[in-house]
Amino acid sequence: MIMSESVSQQVPGLNLNKVFKIIVLGDSGVGKTCLTYRFCEGQFLDKSEATIGVDFRERIVRINNENIRLQLWDTAGQERFRKSMVQHYYRNVHAVVIVYDVTKPETFHSIASWMLEVESHGLMKSPRVLVGNKCDCGTAESRLATTYAQRLADKYGMPLFETSALLDAECGTVESIFMTLAHKLYSKQPLRVISVQGENGPGTVKLARKKPRTTPPNESCLCS
Ligand code: GTP
Ligand code: MG
Repeated sequence: MIMSESVSQQVPGLNLNKVFKIIVLGDSGVGKTCLTYRFCEGQFLDKSEATIGVDFRERIVRINNENIRLQLWDTAGQERFRKSMVQHYYRNVHAVVIVYDVTKPETFHSIASWMLEVESHGLMKSPRVLVGNKCDCGTAESRLATTYAQRLADKYGMPLFETSALLDAECGTVESIFMTLAHKLYSKQPLRVISVQGENGPGTVKLARKKPRTTPPNESCLCS
């Protein structure tokens, strides 16, 4: 397992009270590991090897002055690891990223079966995004057309991002993919009512975010 926890290690006592688990799915070789590495480490992973089971990375981001821990669960695309090892990791997932390779139509056609898997784990109502990776490869003609991909994204009610984990110039798009989910998850947290006396008069009502749930204890042990 790979773990990136640079921020929390650098800042002792950092209050990390919100944790969101994001699972990354897609065929083998589409670039899931490189995308998650780009987001967590800020660079392209030169020698990426096929993931066995699930790799775990994380990054702490700030939203509304709060520290949010984004846990990225980078799954193996290879079928032989999926049945035996990956199914377990769907527990307590908050959001889903589905990746295809814009130069390999077969990886785009697999999205329907990835969606079935997402559905079978009850995640159709969770925030989901579709990502076409490797935009730096091939020619405009050989890459899967954006309009075609957009139609499928619309059908499933997901935003579409096209990017490249390889290109430094595309790091902003990679950032947007995960930050879009982080913002959606943050704003989805239930609100609680707090009554405030004497600020704007008696009985003033304020809304605040509910205390988040924490990482299930038996999942944190998977991260070593
Ligand atoms: P599995 O772990 O087998 O499911 O594959 P994966 O989806 O994690 O793919 P991975 O990130 O390991 O990338 C597969 C290959 O594609 C590697 O050789 C990467 O260097 C390459 N790759 C990943 N992203 C990009 C990209 O944006 N552009 C280019 N040109 N190559 C990429
Ligand atoms: Mg991988």
